[in-house]
Amino acid sequence: MATTDTEHDLSHFGLGIDIGGSGVKGAIVDYRTGEFASERIKIATPSPATPEAVAAVVSEIVRGHNWDGPVGICLPSVVVNQVARTAANIDKSWIGTDVHDLFTNALGGTNVAVLNDADAAGLAEVSFGDETARSGAVLFLTFGTGIGSAFLADGVLFPNTELGHMMIGDKEAEHLASSAAKDREELSYKKWAKRVNKVLAEYERLFNPAAFVVGGGISRNSDKWVPLLTIDTPVVPAKLRNRAGIVGAAMAARSLIQP
Ligand code: BGC
Repeated sequence: MATTDTEHDLSHFGLGIDIGGSGVKGAIVDYRTGEFASERIKIATPSPATPEAVAAVVSEIVRGHNWDGPVGICLPSVVVNQVARTAANIDKSWIGTDVHDLFTNALGGTNVAVLNDADAAGLAEVSFGDETARSGAVLFLTFGTGIGSAFLADGVLFPNTELGHMMIGDKEAEHLASSAAKDREELSYKKWAKRVNKVLAEYERLFNPAAFVVGGGISRNSDKWVPLLTIDTPVVPAKLRNRAGIVGAAMAARSLIQP
């Protein structure tokens, strides 16, 4: 972003990048509204999705936006003290990678903040999404390649929960009920909603949230499955959908939230 007049004061904007299983997506976000202030750039996730290969794509997206401010990046991994600890749907070589150093070096010394993708999406929903996410004990979930989770208490995040890997019967929750599982097994919404219900019932039994907020691409079609859920806890579709990861990553760059 080249303009520097008051209306385009750069402090109002941040670049967020969301690393996913199929695409790496980035956009400049207006912190005042949570809206994109640029086109979204999407580049296919390299295969294998090693840290170096993904960092090169991240750098391409930053250059594509002509951006030289801090950058927020989210990815499907537990991130503790800026070190990736898990790699469920990305290359195993992420485990133990100092993601702060990786991206800072790839971006020529740019200041970066890196966090888990579901945590980023949850934080974005708190700021710009459905007001349900802002108060009380809320379990925010994303349904995509995996199932991501963010625990929110009055809008404050308890980072790095990994409820997608909880065992539900003899399967991990995300193997049973991610939207990738729906596609893979060609499940109807009815059949898939039954599985989601089973997962949510277990979360409900153990965590007793006041509400679930459900995001990820499939929340776009929430009318097809949310009404089929029979658990007692209210389930509210997220408002930001696919945008949430990018917005939350950009927000992390601003406040340098470092889980
Ligand atoms: C990963 C989480 C991630 C979620 C959604 C899971 O497989 O373990 O870290 O948040 O997928 O991408």
